[in-house]
Amino acid sequence: MELHIGCIPGDGIGPEIVKEAKKVLDKVAVRFGHTIQYTEILLGGASIDVHGVPLTMEAVDAAKKSDAVLMGSIGGDANTSPWYKLPPQKRPEAGLLAIRKELGLFANLRPAVLYEELAEACPLKEEISRAGFDMMIMRELTGGLYFGERRTTVENGVRTAVDTLTYNEKEIRRIAVKAFDIAMKRRKKVTSVDKANVLDSSRLWRDVVNEVAKDYPQVALSHMLVDNCAMQLVKDPAQFDVILTENMFGDILSDEASMVTGSIGMLASASLNDTSFGLYEPSHGSAPDIAGMDIANPIATVLSASMMLRYSFNLTSEADAVDKAVKQVLKSGYRTSDIMSADCKKAGCRQVTCSEMGTLLADRI
Ligand code: IPM
Ligand code: MG
Repeated sequence: MELHIGCIPGDGIGPEIVKEAKKVLDKVAVRFGHTIQYTEILLGGASIDVHGVPLTMEAVDAAKKSDAVLMGSIGGDANTSPWYKLPPQKRPEAGLLAIRKELGLFANLRPAVLYEELAEACPLKEEISRAGFDMMIMRELTGGLYFGERRTTVENGVRTAVDTLTYNEKEIRRIAVKAFDIAMKRRKKVTSVDKANVLDSSRLWRDVVNEVAKDYPQVALSHMLVDNCAMQLVKDPAQFDVILTENMFGDILSDEASMVTGSIGMLASASLNDTSFGLYEPSHGSAPDIAGMDIANPIATVLSASMMLRYSFNLTSEADAVDKAVKQVLKSGYRTSDIMSADCKKAGCRQVTCSEMGTLLADRI
């Protein structure tokens, strides 16, 4: 098979982690008889440096021409980077929001899994983490507060800022359908998260999710208020299978869930539209403080590449091979610094660099 992959190295640690993911993908190609063509695409700060804007139409076209896009990370240090002297709509993050919208990537899948090998990194009490957890956060990605009208005005000397949170039933239905479809392939449980005790958009969300649920009688649906969900994620994460939620709640809850795993450097994500196209990126940020030091953890990006093989190319054995390589490398005791613990070190675990980790993974494909 010929795979046309758009590559967005992006900012911060992005270029180094994408390089390692490509190392692994190239090995997959050799081992399984595929060819890969990469097209490099500029986004975020990297695009600002060249074109003065975080996203160009040229970049959107290049992404659209690819079968799928693999991304590193976007953004810099807001206190020191010159990108943050630009107006908000010209900053790196605006490019990421815009490309999601341009490509219609309304469904963001963020798995949060407690890896057995890394259980000691989980910050929860052992009596809670013992049960393990494996949830999929389905975040609506192109609507709600992040895409509503916004303005800041000054009236009678008082500054006022307005952001609007809008959802229509079509936007809610399509993400709900995706969430139920995915739940059917998992433990058949959907927790829809909203703030229906306050927000109209949440009451509509709940109604539409209930309507969609009628087509999935095998899936157990429950509704949870977002503040309670934030609590439940640290109290009893094992109760969740698929969490379905709107854009901002999903942004916040997915960060919380990833922290609870203790290994944010391990978590992948996929942003999908209605076709097989997807944009795949690690759940973590650009970590500008360690950029270029070759100490970042490339595993989340490698696992994002695995999600790409699975969801965009339907290459299940290839994706399984990548996931297995990650498990084997962890089992063999190799750790990047973010997932190295004192106990692991004592037990003989070896600390490796970003590029060494990439090579170790590629060698196991
Ligand atoms: C994420 C990030 C982005 C978002 C930012 C960088 C715009 O936090 O992917 O979660 O909020 O969607
Ligand atoms: Mg976020």
